[in-house]
Amino acid sequence: MVDCSILRGDFPEISERGLVFLDSAASSLKPRSVIGSMRVFMESSYANVHRGAYRVSLEASKAYEEAHEVVAKFIGARSWEEVVFTRNTTESIQLLALTLYYNKLIGRGDEIVVTEAEHHSNMLPWARIARIAGARVRMVPVNSEGVPRWDMLEEILSEKTRVVAFGHASNVTGYLSDARSIARKAHKVGALVVLDGAQSVPHVKVDVRELEVDFIAFSGHKMLGPSGIGVLWGKLDFLENLEPPLGGGGTVKRVKLEGGDIKIDWEDPPWKFESGTPPIVEAVGLAKAVEYLESIGMREVEEHERSLTEYTIKSLEELGERVRILGPKDPSRKLGIVSFTMGTLDPSLIGAWLDSYNIAVRTGLHCAHILHDKLGASQGSVRASFYIYNCRDDVDKLRNSLEELVKTLEK
Ligand SMILES: Cc1ncc(COP(=O)(O)O)c(C=O)c1O
Repeated sequence: MVDCSILRGDFPEISERGLVFLDSAASSLKPRSVIGSMRVFMESSYANVHRGAYRVSLEASKAYEEAHEVVAKFIGARSWEEVVFTRNTTESIQLLALTLYYNKLIGRGDEIVVTEAEHHSNMLPWARIARIAGARVRMVPVNSEGVPRWDMLEEILSEKTRVVAFGHASNVTGYLSDARSIARKAHKVGALVVLDGAQSVPHVKVDVRELEVDFIAFSGHKMLGPSGIGVLWGKLDFLENLEPPLGGGGTVKRVKLEGGDIKIDWEDPPWKFESGTPPIVEAVGLAKAVEYLESIGMREVEEHERSLTEYTIKSLEELGERVRILGPKDPSRKLGIVSFTMGTLDPSLIGAWLDSYNIAVRTGLHCAHILHDKLGASQGSVRASFYIYNCRDDVDKLRNSLEELVKTLEK
């Protein structure tokens, strides 16, 4: 069981600033151990990696490589070479879309399937690549709750489908899709399956082999790690056979000038996909964050957040019709996210009201404009999202301050 009241002590922004932090879906807080690991590394072992024969550089390279291994184990990858470090989820998906295009795996007449519920990070890269390649994006529509109509997937899939890319958990409704059954259907037509794990990897046990997907993208900053590091995971035999779209330092074994041509012998994965100086300190911090999550256990993390979600839905429902919760209300189908609107009240005003109670929430369209339009919430919503350091008293504070707002509006 997660003891949120004890864990809170590890997070200075809560223990020292008294913040009621309900915005972990944007970026989580960082525990002292993560902050400390990065500081110690920078003070004692920092150097560029894979570029020096001196001891500090070798130490830094070892720490950087070990971080790949820690992340690989965390997501059930077969080997650390399958883990590519990027800057964030957005860059991971962008890198993948470009890679597939460069390697002629997306071309004229092909189709890429995404859903109307996607975060822009998993929509715009595909829309842009489709435009360049002469391919077409096809959308899985959402129902009135903003849940993708997966029952329509088989109608949308065809022999033209090259990629099916979808968010494992919605950053607006928290809805968790059944990735494995979707992957199985997509594989039947020979499509590659790309999972946007930005909102799932930090909150549930994700095992890439169990889910049977081909690629997964996620961000360090949403899972207690620092910003500036993200992950793209792909199967090794796949990565080995792909040419990277971004060349540069660290991506090659040897470059030669032959008959006036620049000949490139690419490095093995993951290095050929990590162009330029990588996020070295951030990798150390991310490994520490994974260690912290593993010490709690991902099943416990999930259970804790489910129970908070259930409690939040119940608490907000007590406020009556003034508050409309977006998406499904059954907590067993959701991760720790509850978004809501209050009539025509501007979500940013609600956010500012809550801030006056030291409560941090996200307001606006959450980079999911189409989903908000489909939910009839075109001016956006207020999102409360949870993590291991949230307890029921945070939800009570949210509820009570919203109740005050309702009373003020009714005066
Ligand atoms: C579902 C989803 N995908 C992608 C992203 C983008 O993550 P990042 O900003 O770290 O690239 C987010 C961020 O909120 C998200 O919620």
